[in-house]
Amino acid sequence: MRVEGAKNSALKLMAAALLAPGASTITNVPDIADVDIMAEVVSGLGARVERSDHALVIDATDATSYEAPYELVARMRASISVLGPLVARLGRARVAMPGGCAIGSRKIDMHIAGLQHLGVTIEIGHGFILATAPPMGLQGADVTLEFPSVGATENLLTAAVTARGTTTIDNAAREPEIVDLAEFLNAMGARIAGAGTQTIVIEGVDELRPVEEHRVVGDRVEAGTFLVAGALCGGPVTVRGFDCDHLGLTIDKLRKAGCIVDCLLDGATISREGAVAAVDVQTLPHPGFPTDMQAQFMALMAIAEGSSVITENVFENRFMFADELSRMGADVRIEGHHALVRGVEQLSGAPVRCPDLRAGAALVLAGLVADGETRVGDIHHIERGYERFVDKLASLGANIGYAWDDMPVLGGENPC
Ligand code: EPZ
Repeated sequence: MRVEGAKNSALKLMAAALLAPGASTITNVPDIADVDIMAEVVSGLGARVERSDHALVIDATDATSYEAPYELVARMRASISVLGPLVARLGRARVAMPGGCAIGSRKIDMHIAGLQHLGVTIEIGHGFILATAPPMGLQGADVTLEFPSVGATENLLTAAVTARGTTTIDNAAREPEIVDLAEFLNAMGARIAGAGTQTIVIEGVDELRPVEEHRVVGDRVEAGTFLVAGALCGGPVTVRGFDCDHLGLTIDKLRKAGCIVDCLLDGATISREGAVAAVDVQTLPHPGFPTDMQAQFMALMAIAEGSSVITENVFENRFMFADELSRMGADVRIEGHHALVRGVEQLSGAPVRCPDLRAGAALVLAGLVADGETRVGDIHHIERGYERFVDKLASLGANIGYAWDDMPVLGGENPC
């Protein structure tokens, strides 16, 4: 199967398109609910958005409104990524405070502190952030992030591109999606060096131009999710459309868990003959093991021979998946930010509900190998970030379909 462009890059590229008047074209855009919401956000700011099969044209010529409405930001916290572009282009932004979500408080103190270093005045009240640039515009500065926050790195990048002078971001996030954003901004005429390393240097420029065409980087998390499906069922499964180097540690861990993973030019093939081996994992910012793959890996460890410890270091509450997985017979004990997973012979199908996007996908994966039928509810969480998830799994041989009450049904006598 083939993965789409990365959700966690496409949303930020759409926000970054606001920086320059004119029409930017973005291709390999996933057809998912979060992209629909971000299209509403940028349209609400005055940009014109045209969509055709997995491509977007965003004309930001008339993007002169600086307020991102509450009801849209409340629906998708990634809307906060319009903060940097609005302050840079219009000198001000009024964005609703993004709510927390199931996996944690999702604070934005580092976004705010970083922007203040560039001279932005921030007022917070009545559920909104009001950011105002100084009359002379933003001033480049040296910023060190307390934590390599993806969102804070992105808002600083988009704010600094037209600041006067040089901005250095130390302890920057190194995710491939950051590199994709920097490439997009440089195609606009920005001067960014070091994206993908812990130190990014941005030379401010006077003006930016729209991007002729930019292809969104392949979605490494969607790819990792389908590789775990192959690991669970034995495969072989070939996933195309992503760069193996973007899943380095994930692939290492799948190999240690007993899988054969062959990296290809544009993807990877995974298979497994023997038992799943128990492997410890701890999530860390890239290039560490991705927190967005934690639930999927826990589903694999749930049927491993032996016990594994999964440590979640990035979010404060990203183990809700374990409760649902336990309903399917998994043996998981949570101790703070550690999950002790004792592998069981077989999971059993059960009605479960998606607590969030990645946990929801992981529950479907668990249902692929569980004995009997699994009904997964609240799949709108999955549809936010995975295009045609059910169809793609069915194309790989999964016994899966939509139930009458929007719950995909999995399993049966031959689950994979
Ligand atoms: C992005 O979220 C992704 N979302 C997340 O993917 C991903 O899990 C995360 O990066 C880490 O890789 C999008 O790109 C839309 P962070 P983001 O800022 O930017 C704390 C998915 O499933 N923090 O790196 O919000 C924060 O609370 C989603 O696709 C502060 O305390 O992540 C969290 O605990 C889930 N203050 C940690 O840092 C701040 O100012 C990492 O957050 C910013 C962050």
